[in-house]
Amino acid sequence: MKIRLALAAACMMALSAQAIANPQRTAILDRFAAEAKQQDKAFSAFSAERGKALFMDKHTGGKPEFPACASCHTSDPKSSGQTKAGKEIPPMAVSKTPTRFTDPAEVEKWFGRNCNQVLGRDCTASEKGDFITFLISQ
Ligand code: HEC
Repeated sequence: MKIRLALAAACMMALSAQAIANPQRTAILDRFAAEAKQQDKAFSAFSAERGKALFMDKHTGGKPEFPACASCHTSDPKSSGQTKAGKEIPPMAVSKTPTRFTDPAEVEKWFGRNCNQVLGRDCTASEKGDFITFLISQ
């Protein structure tokens, strides 16, 4: 009985890992990792913890009406967010929106726009990778 349960759990884990693994998303992360290494020799790996802080924390330097990524995306990555105009933004968590971070042009466009709104600057490659890593874990 115990063995059967363990097998079922292992299968479920394999399935969810498969749903999350996506070649386009992996390629995007690999590119950010190469860029991060170029920008900082000490870079070793992305961190979901740092990505979570970037997502949740209040920042300064950007537009005061949008102090956090969570201002639009909400502090629950599994929930839908909302633009200022009231348009729904599908959840950022990859488990809820499997197409997240799979189109390099979309990823660049929105990091460019949103990091500048919230931080008043571009995000670094390391921050982008951390952010995606956090949302893959959600
Ligand atoms: C003013 C509202 C707003 C804020 C603040 C905001 N976003 Fe977004 N974000 C959007 C909208 C709108 C989209 C596009 C709709 C979508 O992808 O569902 C989006 C999409 C994205 C995407 C594209 C996701 C994909 O699937 O490729 C990334 C990356 C992103 N945001 C990162 C950030 C980060 C990082 C922050 C904080 C520094 C942030 N956003 C803050 C509104 C916002």
